[in-house]
Amino acid sequence: MRSIIRDERVLMPDHPPKRLVHREDQLRRISGYLSGFLENPGSSFSRAVIYGPPGTGKTASLRYIARMYALDGHNKVRYVHVSCYSNRSYTSIIKSAAAQLGMYMPPRGLSAYEYIDLFVAGLNARDLYVLFVLDDAHRIFDEQRHEALAGLIRLGAEPSSFGGKYRLALVIIVNDLSTLEELDKSARSILGNPIVRFPPYTSSEIYDILMDRAEDALHRGTYSDDIIEMISSFVGVDGADGGSGDARIAIDVLWKAAKYAEMDGAHAIYPEHVRRAIRDASIGIRVEELASYYPHQLLLLLAIIRALKRRPTIAYVPFGNVEEEYKMVCDEFGEKPRVHSLLWEFLQELKKSGVVETKPSGKGRRGRTTLISISRESLDSLENVVTSILRSKLR
Ligand SMILES: Nc1ncnc2c1ncn2[C@@H]1O[C@H](COP(=O)(O)OP(=O)(O)OP(=O)(O)O)[C@@H](O)[C@H]1O
Ligand SMILES: [Mg+2]
Repeated sequence: MRSIIRDERVLMPDHPPKRLVHREDQLRRISGYLSGFLENPGSSFSRAVIYGPPGTGKTASLRYIARMYALDGHNKVRYVHVSCYSNRSYTSIIKSAAAQLGMYMPPRGLSAYEYIDLFVAGLNARDLYVLFVLDDAHRIFDEQRHEALAGLIRLGAEPSSFGGKYRLALVIIVNDLSTLEELDKSARSILGNPIVRFPPYTSSEIYDILMDRAEDALHRGTYSDDIIEMISSFVGVDGADGGSGDARIAIDVLWKAAKYAEMDGAHAIYPEHVRRAIRDASIGIRVEELASYYPHQLLLLLAIIRALKRRPTIAYVPFGNVEEEYKMVCDEFGEKPRVHSLLWEFLQELKKSGVVETKPSGKGRRGRTTLISISRESLDSLENVVTSILRSKLR
């Protein structure tokens, strides 16, 4: 196999880009909204709302700001980034924030309000200030969303719990502003209008983002301007087919195209590799969603993929076969297999999120079993993604 990729990590969706091209304006405005708090912590309640469709650099921008202001363990202001993809309840949001600050909390048994009290007490005791980023806030469970958002807004705005200091700055990231319409009037008015929009990227913007990545990720001479342009015009909002403007998809296509080129033993990425990668991306399961799964849920998914690949002519495999495959996969990753009932739960979750489809076996088989299939994504590309996420999780 020829080597096209020099550093695969650079093509992973959570790899921090060296610079955020075409987001200078957004970065300046967000910094402006937060500067009061960052420069003089405790003096005021700084907040911002960020909105825009997937892959427009919202998450990357906040992480960039954290790096810019060096909000690490040595700074008086600490950075907390809670993804509501994996933390969908008020309690788990607070627990995740506490864990990031190294605060101890009992794993279960308390109400959301008791966890918040502990969190507040922890910040006071350690004299901490926190830039609190609530990412993908639209993913909080419907019935808890208002309570969580309004709760955090009030906590930030009313310094009474913090001995008169403003200890929290709050950044709420959403896909669109309808999430804020659910807020009650008073929370909405406290929040005000520090709103920053992240529009979908145009083809030429995607081109610049991809060039930066390609430079660091691929060997020189393995990608041409045309190759990058092909991907850009597929993804850019102003492209021929009106793309999504999603940089994550663009980077993913580049990565897959590079993989296809390597599998072919080619000297460089050719248009046909891009076409194949684009075909894969046209459907697609969110990599970020997969990245939020437990390792053994991913091991189970990998087992399903492998079991299906073993029998390329049939669309459904029985759960029993998958469980055998799962044991082999665990072996390969040096993991102890989990019990049947837990695997069954993981399977139900994979089904709920649409990654796999299941149906009961028909008549004519001895005993009834569940049959499993994957139709939304090519098995090869899904296997690639799942394997690299697993490698990074189980490292
Ligand atoms: N302006 C940019 N420059 C360089 N890389 C970028 C830029 N914008 C986005 N990216 C990269 O594209 C990918 C997606 O960006 P990001 O995760 O920030 O999107 P998002 O707006 O948070 O999407 P979602 O709503 O789905 O969470 C990341 O790998 C990010 O590093
Ligand atoms: Mg994001």
